[in-house]
Amino acid sequence: MRLSDARVVLTGASGGIGQAIADALCAKGARVIAVSRHRDPLEPLLQRYTQNLTWVGGDLTFASDRNKILMAAQAIGGINLLINAAGINRFAMIEQLDDAEIHAMLALNVAAPIILTRTLLPLLRGASHSMVVNVGSTYGSIGYPGYATYSASKFALRGFSEALRRELADTCVNVLYVAPRATRTSMNSLAAQALNVALKSGVDEPRDVASAVLHAIASDHRDLYLGWPERFFVRLNNLLPNLVDRGLRKHLPLIRRLSQKPGKEHLKP
Ligand SMILES: NC(=O)c1ccc[n+]([C@@H]2O[C@H](COP(=O)([O-])OP(=O)(O)OC[C@H]3O[C@@H](n4cnc5c(N)ncnc54)[C@H](OP(=O)(O)O)[C@@H]3O)[C@@H](O)[C@H]2O)c1
Repeated sequence: MRLSDARVVLTGASGGIGQAIADALCAKGARVIAVSRHRDPLEPLLQRYTQNLTWVGGDLTFASDRNKILMAAQAIGGINLLINAAGINRFAMIEQLDDAEIHAMLALNVAAPIILTRTLLPLLRGASHSMVVNVGSTYGSIGYPGYATYSASKFALRGFSEALRRELADTCVNVLYVAPRATRTSMNSLAAQALNVALKSGVDEPRDVASAVLHAIASDHRDLYLGWPERFFVRLNNLLPNLVDRGLRKHLPLIRRLSQKPGKEHLKP
């Protein structure tokens, strides 16, 4: 896909990765409808790209707000790129999550991108060539302690992406699944950051993730897994899950201790 021709709906646009993708797309000349509940984080980009960037405020778990996105997409004559990047996460053992937090994570990370994709599909099919990009995670391929519900949601998003790609194989719509590793955004609580430091996990900058995503879109790739050791562990987990079980078990005391530490300071309203 030629990025300069892209007409885009981008969810999660006010977040660390979303802002970087919005910036990179607008710099290439794409027309971007940025979706989020909060407008403030996007203000500098809205002022820089007055011709390319518009904002639609909305909660993706509300049908009425998803409809607003459809109307905005129709108003620019349709779209050829949908990027589902909104997501929430909480580093916590399963007993620490209440029902509402579990429902919220599944509603935003799984149901919202599936329903939004179905809602916008007629527009995507109306273009000569289009793409759905689903932003998953390394934890969508490796079930990780402290992230059981989040992992479940990203496994689901990866399964949706694979099935949808096959369902749309004879249409003009391609599907790209993106699996970032840890990325420096406010999604990661202090406890999650402490775990990354303790385990010496690589942490990417959002602009590097955005640049890899744009390259994958422009090259019509089917998936994108970021980070070398993470790509290796995804393969190892597929082939020898018992080995990964044993490796992660060694980290359990640390994971349990760190996950108990903070309150919910990283959960945005
Ligand atoms: N950061 C990482 O380490 C990492 C690693 C792997 C994968 N990922 C994935 O990458 C994607 C982007 O993450 P990020 O790090 O950029 O996160 P972030 O900075 O926390 O941003 C999250 C985005 O989701 C939006 N959002 C949250 N609840 C929403 C709701 N109910 N309705 C509409 N939008 C909502 C937020 O916008 P508002 O609050 O303004 O609504 C924000 O734009 C997510 O899917 C995440 O799972 C992140």
